[in-house]
Amino acid sequence: MCGIIGYCGPRAAAPILIEGLKRLEYRGYDSAGINVEHDGAFQLIKRAGKINDLRAHVPEDLPGHTGIGHTRWATHGSVTDTNAHPHTDPTGAVTIVHNGIIENYQALKNRLEAEGHVFVTETDSEVVAHLVADMYDGDLEKAVKEAVSLVKGTYGIVAMHIDEPGHLVGARNGSPLVLGVGDGEMFLASDVTAIIAHTKQVVYIEDGEVVSLTADGYHTTDLRNNTVVKEIDHVSWELEEIEKAGFPHFMEKEIFEQPESIARALKGRIDPEYATGHLGGLNLTNRELLDINRVKILAAGTSYHAGMVAAYVLESLARIPASAELASELRYRNPIVERNSLYFATSQSGETADTLYAMREVQRKGGRVLGICNVVGSTIARESDGGVYIHSGPEIAVASTKAFTSQLTALYLFALIMGRMRDMSYEQGRRFVEALEAVPQQIQQILDDTMPIQALARKYARCENFLFLGRGINYPVALEAALKLKEVSYIHAEGYSAAEIKHGPIALINPDTPSFFIVPDDGLRDKVINNMKEVKARSGPVIALAVEGDHEVALIADDVIYVPKANELMYPFLMVVPTQLFGYYCALERGCNVDQPRNLAKSVTVE
Ligand code: M6R
Repeated sequence: MCGIIGYCGPRAAAPILIEGLKRLEYRGYDSAGINVEHDGAFQLIKRAGKINDLRAHVPEDLPGHTGIGHTRWATHGSVTDTNAHPHTDPTGAVTIVHNGIIENYQALKNRLEAEGHVFVTETDSEVVAHLVADMYDGDLEKAVKEAVSLVKGTYGIVAMHIDEPGHLVGARNGSPLVLGVGDGEMFLASDVTAIIAHTKQVVYIEDGEVVSLTADGYHTTDLRNNTVVKEIDHVSWELEEIEKAGFPHFMEKEIFEQPESIARALKGRIDPEYATGHLGGLNLTNRELLDINRVKILAAGTSYHAGMVAAYVLESLARIPASAELASELRYRNPIVERNSLYFATSQSGETADTLYAMREVQRKGGRVLGICNVVGSTIARESDGGVYIHSGPEIAVASTKAFTSQLTALYLFALIMGRMRDMSYEQGRRFVEALEAVPQQIQQILDDTMPIQALARKYARCENFLFLGRGINYPVALEAALKLKEVSYIHAEGYSAAEIKHGPIALINPDTPSFFIVPDDGLRDKVINNMKEVKARSGPVIALAVEGDHEVALIADDVIYVPKANELMYPFLMVVPTQLFGYYCALERGCNVDQPRNLAKSVTVE
């Protein structure tokens, strides 16, 4: 989704802005631009297309020490040079970048047009530049405050005025904004990845706050001009973590990091003495945990699939009714929030608008929401009533992989805690812990030999349709496998419960539509094998993801990929990894842009 970077300091702004935009590329975008102030004039350069196209139009020695930059992910108006940010008012005195959606932009635009303003873009964002210019009487901070007071919708905004060189003003409502505090220089960005090459000292700007910065300092206020005292946080991510470390793509790097990222999510969170988990951030006493009689996991996309798996585990270990809810749907359903329900807002980025708004709706009704987030200091992490960081390290590829398995790890630990307080014996807890601790090594075994998966991708990458089929705890894995394949390779893929195909999808079976079955050695294995036979009987190619030693599967399927034998609750970890690799290799075969698939954004900060 859109990205923002701003700089003021002694260095040349343009290279810092371009480098920041490059680091924001992973969020997904379709155009980019910068505006740099020098000697009382703005130098605005913006282009539809990739940052490298923009860079080609920016003179290497572009002068100027203050500037703003933006990557746009189109919502209002097509992808054109003109619609790219930064935007200006008609006189060119004000320039702004904006993330989010101005919901009342049409009404504001009509009013401004009636007053003689001429608009040049199709965007909602341009009205902000016009409004700031309209309000300006020599004080940019005041003008920004007055302008945003008229705006309905979401925004992360950074503005400059030509009469105030070296000065940036940022404002936030619903779209992330973080200040980077350097040594004699300041940064503003929508995401810390854009600035951690320069500083790890950050201040998270909250909704309703405005930050005013120059190279030497900053101050934060609310829209009524009250000073807001903010703490400086330290970002723990290292620069190397957001680089590729020799891998051709972030997606591959992140898939291969999973043994390590899962181990990190487990670290210090097992209590061997009582064969249970230990999650410090829950902010709940054991007595309060005992009172919980329902768990709901609010999430979107891959995080939702992780929630579905976790709900299954919670019910099975702790015998607590649990379900995953699509955050986008829950919010508008007038949800019933019960006193003893516990909610988890599960989000890699911690910024997904659907999940954030669902969380706020539940909190508004008095519900308790804990966050399961990766990005430290993200909005969901800050606004939740407690929670757990999954510690995956930065996930840069748009397609989520390592976050999924780390979310599972955190939620499995929670299920273990709840299970050990209820139905699970010490011995059952001990076996579960042992099985969970074995997962990183078992995933490493899969990653040590990816040749069979590469061969599979070569064989099937030209197919245009795919079915992924699983049952029970592996049904969400089938959904996740289909999501991964479609987002990175653009192959149409559907995930179903294997039991459901006879209720409709079996009509799709033909020799060109492979069915990818997930066949663990659990209680549903024989049923899944029957479903495989049904597909074979209709001339559909069958791929099976099965457990080492399962020779019967090989007699039915056209191709088999094996995973190590494990505790049956651990198969979602082991089954998902080959499907991530399959999606990745199919995308390579098809020449797709693996890390930044078309139309997609890493962090979906609009509804
Ligand atoms: O940051 P979040 O986990 O909240 O993101 C939720 C979805 O947008 C995300 O999982 C999306 O589905 C990914 N592109 C999946 O690979």
